[in-house]
Amino acid sequence: MRRTLSRYLIEEQREKGKINADLRLLIEVVARACKSIAVAIGKGAIGGEGGVLGEAGSDNVQGEAQKKLDVISNEIFLEANEWGGHLAGMASEEMELPHAIPNRYPQGEYLLLFDPLDGSSNIDINVSVGTIFSVLRCPEGADPTADTAFLQPGTKQVAAGYAVYGPTTLLVLTVGDGVACFTLDREQGSFVLTQEHLRIPEDTKEFAINMSNLRHWEPPVRRYVEELLAGKEGPRGKDFNMRWVASMVADVHRIMTRGGIFMYPLDAKIKDKGGKLRLMYEANPMSFIVEQAGGAASTGRQRILEVQPNGLHMRVPVILGSKNEVELVTSYHGT
Ligand code: AHG
Ligand code: MN
Ligand code: MN
Ligand code: MN
Repeated sequence: MRRTLSRYLIEEQREKGKINADLRLLIEVVARACKSIAVAIGKGAIGGEGGVLGEAGSDNVQGEAQKKLDVISNEIFLEANEWGGHLAGMASEEMELPHAIPNRYPQGEYLLLFDPLDGSSNIDINVSVGTIFSVLRCPEGADPTADTAFLQPGTKQVAAGYAVYGPTTLLVLTVGDGVACFTLDREQGSFVLTQEHLRIPEDTKEFAINMSNLRHWEPPVRRYVEELLAGKEGPRGKDFNMRWVASMVADVHRIMTRGGIFMYPLDAKIKDKGGKLRLMYEANPMSFIVEQAGGAASTGRQRILEVQPNGLHMRVPVILGSKNEVELVTSYHGT
């Protein structure tokens, strides 16, 4: 008998007590929203009036030119999640401020943060993209329309996950009880459990980094990567392979599947911004998932999940994946 996402969540609630009914319902709704995004993306140039590819003609708070699908997927998440009664508020890469739950709907105890479309630069070239989400509890008495309610370290997450819209649509999820992977059965419209207790090998021969930034990197990262590039003749004594999809969900999913190290380090080009990737809805959920699978996730100077956020769109350097590699890079940072 195939175990679906619904059955997995019921078991996490009823048999393991890891989640309650509200969190179970929230995750079910998020999964449904990801299915809707998958359908929208799947239409590409033939979706809506004039297709769903290309630019939306607007910028987001990040200063990025939004793609139509950035906006569409953000709307899908807001509409799917605001009426259920399990949320106090939502925050997204695509919105400067949190989205309050309209008064006509009941308020819940959770906060949902999301990157509705990760890897936007790959949309128009038909390369895998995804959605990343993170769930926090709304602090007692906090105002969920103020970003302060959301500014909690990653260790406070109660659930995190990502969807990958690729040859298959996958949902990878943790509620703090290991990591499970679900494959969308498009005929039934249900996510089927296809892998449970994913584990990231502690060692690897594969690294992921955007090499075009090499001249901007801080010395510890430059030293680490140059040692990888030296291959078996170098200090590492083995050859390494490189992959860089430029969709974090795809690069992280490869690591969840066969190990590796993913780096978007601090570099001189983005130093004033604190990094490229956003802590609250990219680095934190991915770090929770990676740690739950036996991997590690660091800024180079501290565990990502322990970073105290100073803003909803705070950026951090990200080094995550196979534990022994992350620890080596971190050691080069003198920590
Ligand atoms: P988003 O599309 O949500 O803005 O995120 C893009 C991020 C991440 O997905 C990826 O790892 C990184 O940007 C790629 O950066 P480069 O384009 O600089 O390689
Ligand atoms: Mn973006
Ligand atoms: Mn992203
Ligand atoms: Mn995005």
